Amino acid sequence: MKEEYVLELENIRKEYPGVVALKDVTLRLKKGEILALIGENGAGKSTLIKTCSGAVVPTSGKIKVNGKTFSRMTPQLASENGIAIIYQEFNNVGELSVAENLFLGHPIKKGIVIDKKAMEAESIEAFKQLNIDINPKELMKNLTVGYQQMVEIAKAIHQNANVLIMDEPSAPLTSKEVKSMFEVVRLLKSKGVSIIYISHRLEEIFALSDRIEVIRDGEYIDTLITKDANVDQLIKLMVGREMTQVYPERPDYTDFSETVLELHDVCGNGVKNINFKVHKGEVLGLGGLVGAGRTETAELIFGAAEKTSGKIIFKGKEINPKSPREAIDIGIALVPEDRKRHGALLGTSINHNINMPIYERISKFSVINTAIEKGNSEKYKKEMNIKAPNLDQLVKNLSGGNQQKVILAKCLAANSELIILDEPTRGIDVGAKFEIYKLINDLVANGKAVLMISSEMEELIGMSDRVVVLAEGLVTGVLEKDEVDADKIMMFASAVADKEE
Ligand SMILES: Nc1ncnc2c1ncn2[C@@H]1O[C@H](COP(=O)(O)OP(=O)(O)OP(=O)(O)O)[C@@H](O)[C@H]1O
Ligand SMILES: [Mg+2]
Repeated sequence: MKEEYVLELENIRKEYPGVVALKDVTLRLKKGEILALIGENGAGKSTLIKTCSGAVVPTSGKIKVNGKTFSRMTPQLASENGIAIIYQEFNNVGELSVAENLFLGHPIKKGIVIDKKAMEAESIEAFKQLNIDINPKELMKNLTVGYQQMVEIAKAIHQNANVLIMDEPSAPLTSKEVKSMFEVVRLLKSKGVSIIYISHRLEEIFALSDRIEVIRDGEYIDTLITKDANVDQLIKLMVGREMTQVYPERPDYTDFSETVLELHDVCGNGVKNINFKVHKGEVLGLGGLVGAGRTETAELIFGAAEKTSGKIIFKGKEINPKSPREAIDIGIALVPEDRKRHGALLGTSINHNINMPIYERISKFSVINTAIEKGNSEKYKKEMNIKAPNLDQLVKNLSGGNQQKVILAKCLAANSELIILDEPTRGIDVGAKFEIYKLINDLVANGKAVLMISSEMEELIGMSDRVVVLAEGLVTGVLEKDEVDADKIMMFASAVADKEE
């Protein structure tokens, strides 16, 4: 019997000036299945799925929905044919209520007036179907990212989507939120909805999908049945070579005699009495659950928030940076967690972004030394494998993961003494992660100090010399290298009750 597909992308090709993003890629989605789409940063995943809504118009190829053939889609056609997409950077309106967001573009009207009550009532129904509980009157911006995403899913389902495409939906979520999102996705599958799921986290792919399609460099590579696949095999298909190690070796360096940063009873920005030290040559991991105060602590050190009391000592001197600029000038860099808001200048080139913090240093009488400028960005483009035709490419035209690499490069280029990394590999593919870990190791080998916030337990354990654990704004544990393990970190991460007086 011929297999029934609800969606078929056939020989999709997409060319941009200087880049062939997709080279005749085919993808077939069966009814009621979860198909994972995986590949390295810049492989073409987002571009491929955007052809389903017309956000990207293919240079050639065909799109079949329930057997009907289209050479290109439009948002209207997609919605008429039951296709909904949740984008990597989803688009909701923070100033509107949840209900208004759910009905964005097609509000319920009574005559010519928008019927808020009816929309709210219907929102409640829609959430009920997904077993979630969200107040439809709440402003969208007041919801956690997890709930915002649930609203996006509810919106898709409410529009009667039978194909739901999710582009890295888990990247901004806490592990608890990921669990509830999985429940909703499984519920939808049981109702016959077909799902395309994109993620760099292979454990999610194994937990959720029925089949896995791998693409590499814009080319179709293979499709596997999930239960017959294994991690090593997937990594090899994605990166095109064997990768046996995830964490590069670093010589055990234990001479942490020189302190770079000391926090003494630092309070403010939601944290209390924070004490820890980061040494020259050390990667200090900062662990804890989301909301524990890790980013908040980083902001205090970086001058992005003001402390109310306590002392921050940097290279032996007390500092009180009033702004990130001040912090950068004294030798502190920070790669922010929320890269969309604080990260890159999207409308300018890779070259410009990477060199931004050092223009003063590499200029003489306002003339930039372009050789240094270019050499610098060439170096990072190569080391981090930033995928772009050249350094003049605008950052907004890069894939999500490659934008992050540019931001990381920018912070490293500043050549700071202390580098704070907030979730440095979120949204980054396995191969590039390895390169970033090598860069972190090089930094500390060259006498820098690194403070690394990570919610990925393995990364925290794999990269840190010591780990400080926070919970609800307090330091709950400090683990030396030989004590660092997942159980202990988890224990301290949830150990608040005993600490609070
Ligand atoms: N508007 C554009 N102009 C030029 N090149 C583009 C444009 N949009 C995408 N590209 C290029 O197409 C390629 C595929 O990008 P895409 O965003 O699909 O990757 P991805 O697989 O989703 O990666 P990630 O995992 O990082 O999100 C990249 O090389 C990207 O730079
Ligand atoms: Mg993408």
